[in-house]
Amino acid sequence: MKPIKIGPYKLLSNIILAPMAGVTDLPFRLICRDHGAKFAFFEMIDCNSILYGKKKENDIIRTTSKDKPIAAQLVGPDPDLMLKAAKELVKRLAIKFLDINAACPVPKMVKKKAGAYFLKDPGNLYKIVRSLACELDLPITVKLRSGYHKADHDKIREIAENCEKNGASAIFIHGRTQDQGYSGEVDLEAIKIVKNAVNIPVFGSGNIFSADNARKMIDSTGCDGVMVARGAYGNPWIFKDIEKLLKNGTLPEPRTIDEKLKAAKKHIGYIEKHRNMRPQSMAGYMRKVAQWYMKDFPNACHLRRILNNVKTKGQLLAILDRTPEIIGTNGAFPGAV
Ligand SMILES: Cc1cc2nc3c(=O)[nH]c(=O)nc-3n(C[C@H](O)[C@H](O)[C@H](O)COP(=O)(O)O)c2cc1C
Repeated sequence: MKPIKIGPYKLLSNIILAPMAGVTDLPFRLICRDHGAKFAFFEMIDCNSILYGKKKENDIIRTTSKDKPIAAQLVGPDPDLMLKAAKELVKRLAIKFLDINAACPVPKMVKKKAGAYFLKDPGNLYKIVRSLACELDLPITVKLRSGYHKADHDKIREIAENCEKNGASAIFIHGRTQDQGYSGEVDLEAIKIVKNAVNIPVFGSGNIFSADNARKMIDSTGCDGVMVARGAYGNPWIFKDIEKLLKNGTLPEPRTIDEKLKAAKKHIGYIEKHRNMRPQSMAGYMRKVAQWYMKDFPNACHLRRILNNVKTKGQLLAILDRTPEIIGTNGAFPGAV
């Protein structure tokens, strides 16, 4: 694949970790980076939370020197507030570019006329892109979906073209509509249309759960790169796997249960170190994360039942140590990738 430049910044890989609210926190990004991700996003940041600081927002922008290079994404409806928030954000964070969210389908956000609302009525999106691109000394990008109620290829082409005209340096497009949320087919044609309409890099998003999914998206749309989202849950190797497939045409060996358990424990260690949560919430969160790594294990139902009773990190780690015994393997059994 051709190397991508977003403004003056040359990406180290065309495969990047997508923003996911409530998921791509610092522990998630670190585990992905440890296993091959070369670029990541903070989760989406609400412009009001930056300006009127809430505690939750501190967790969202927590980072370390290992958590680089990185981009941020702002969501909000109002061009003036977005500019103010963006200026504040770039003072606090060393980011390579700043993305504007025109994709979030959550009704609360759409009601505020932000996120995916811009797909219906893009006027303020263009104003935001223009003012941030003019006033800030870093590239501004936009994350779109294929449409609002239904895919509208003419409209999404027009929106992408106008984002570019107003100064956007790249487009990320999730090939689903607001109505679809996160399920249903991905409209590869919409991604292809956007790719052909603009001269800035275009990244496709949607159903990238394997290296093969990524190759198919790139082959059928011509997009410059892809964003990995839910495909990285319990599979932080996916970035390396995609790169390998694109480079050599080879698919990876399935990871063993031991490798998956080791990664799960490391992820849990990062949560303990970097998240600021009440002990019970933290144990619940760690259990959810551990289950991502175990979803393809034999006897998964039995294991899930045992995990459901976990109340502390200590209990969870003890179960992870006993997992090969619980599921009746010696740990070398390959899980599906
Ligand atoms: C839990 C969750 C949170 C998400 N949060 C964001 C977000 O903050 N900003 C954003 O642009 N997209 C967000 N997305 C969308 C993803 O970045 C991605 O475009 C989408 O999940 C499609 O990719 P996938 O089918 O491979 O998961 C989120 C998705 C999920 C599942």
